[in-house]
Amino acid sequence: MKEEVSVIAGPSSFDLAARIARKLDTHLVPVDARIFEDGESKLRVGKTEKKCCIIVQSTYPPTDRHLLQALMMIKKCADSKVEKIYAVIPYMAYARQDKAFLDGEVVSMALVARLLETAGLARLLTVDIHSPFALSYFTIDVENISSIPVLASYTANNICLDRPIVVSPDSGGKERAAEFARILNVDMIALRKFRDRDTGRLSIDERLDTNVEGRDVILVDDMISSGGSIAEACKALKNCKSGKVYAICAHALLIGNAMSTIKAAGVEDIIATNSVPNKSAKVDLSAIISANLNRLIHTY
Ligand code: R5P
Repeated sequence: MKEEVSVIAGPSSFDLAARIARKLDTHLVPVDARIFEDGESKLRVGKTEKKCCIIVQSTYPPTDRHLLQALMMIKKCADSKVEKIYAVIPYMAYARQDKAFLDGEVVSMALVARLLETAGLARLLTVDIHSPFALSYFTIDVENISSIPVLASYTANNICLDRPIVVSPDSGGKERAAEFARILNVDMIALRKFRDRDTGRLSIDERLDTNVEGRDVILVDDMISSGGSIAEACKALKNCKSGKVYAICAHALLIGNAMSTIKAAGVEDIIATNSVPNKSAKVDLSAIISANLNRLIHTY
């Protein structure tokens, strides 16, 4: 594959891109990124193959900067007449804005999909996108890879749990949590979470479907941003006398005081993937991403 494929290391995901390139046994193309005083990015992409380029760029905060940088790299490949332009965007920003929930709201995900396609993207790989509906705005082929098997395997091998139960903080994440619970062969419940769409205020119904008293809990979510959902869920579980609570997610954005909010609520630890490179990124995505890329490269 060496001669045909270039893996382009986007400024947000150098380490992940390097791991993917190693697993695909191909070379890594560096990208020189300068940020000007006014916040603009100026990118210089190294020499790439013409046949297939894989751009790796997660769009965690600063979200708009990382998204624009992804667009810039795609456009560069298109201008260089690269035949197949693929992007690996493990954390897909704006996926939570997939519908207009209130009058006047912009469906930003539809715009993001249009921008990526217009720039020249042929295929997108993402990981645990917030809502599969967000993918409906793409007309190109899109793969949404589940990180649940690798997160579950990490949990089974590294955390000692007493009569564990998997809990989804809301009904929207039920299937994800159910997949996790199936792999670990343990019970699962979903909490009932309510969010006031005007104020953003969260509340969780403490009348649970199962008694969690004394049981260790694995809270499974797609992402942690402000930490509010996980903190409120943990408080509700502790009020119901649960044992230890661990938070597991694909994308730990951990904005502002999220980490301290979560720890103050009683969460033992946060385990996430390296879609966002930070202290909680304990699970490497490069193997599952490379396996999917290998299949795509040889099929299309
Ligand atoms: C919501 O539906 C999502 O699955 C997450 O629970 C939520 O986006 C996390 O955000 P925060 O950490 O700000 O509560």
